[in-house]
Amino acid sequence: MAKWDDVLRNIHCGLFVVTTKSGDKINGMTVAWMTRASIEPPMVSVSIGKTRYSHGLIQESGVFAVNILKEGQVDVGKHFGFQSGKRVNKFDKVDYETKITGSPILKNIAGYLDCRVVSSCDAGDHTIFVGEVVDAGTSPDARPMLYVHEDFWGKK
Ligand SMILES: Cc1cc2nc3c(=O)[nH]c(=O)nc-3n(C[C@H](O)[C@H](O)[C@H](O)COP(=O)(O)O)c2cc1C
Repeated sequence: MAKWDDVLRNIHCGLFVVTTKSGDKINGMTVAWMTRASIEPPMVSVSIGKTRYSHGLIQESGVFAVNILKEGQVDVGKHFGFQSGKRVNKFDKVDYETKITGSPILKNIAGYLDCRVVSSCDAGDHTIFVGEVVDAGTSPDARPMLYVHEDFWGKK
């Protein structure tokens, strides 16, 4: 039988930075496991590892935003995906704005979904947070990034 993570690599997904704000703390992390969950009301889900700093912040605050990266923004994915907010302030030199929930919305991205958590589900070493979309925006001409494993971890 093929290794299951080799098989899953055949599933196309985009790449996102999931941000949140809890009290005076903000953070963002790179996420590939994001999907649409409901049309009415509009909902999306994100799968967040339980050891991530963002996990506790999303649990505390009940809010997150999905920032949809543009084609070519591998550097942004690495910035938010290869270091933890436990040790560094990833927003030190990154411009952002806020909409309804206070979660950071990055500048120069393909689009965003500002969400309030409506439910969560235990999923092994991750938690799936389902968020109702309370605000959304897009850059009509931007092409969204497609996640390519080798861009981040090199060839096997
Ligand atoms: C390309 C890429 C995709 C990732 N996708 C996910 C994901 O879907 N869920 C997750 O929990 N972590 C994912 N990560 C790992 C987190 O982004 C990473 O552990 C991050 O440092 C966590 O940040 P935090 O501790 O500040 O929350 C991904 C990382 C990369 C580079």
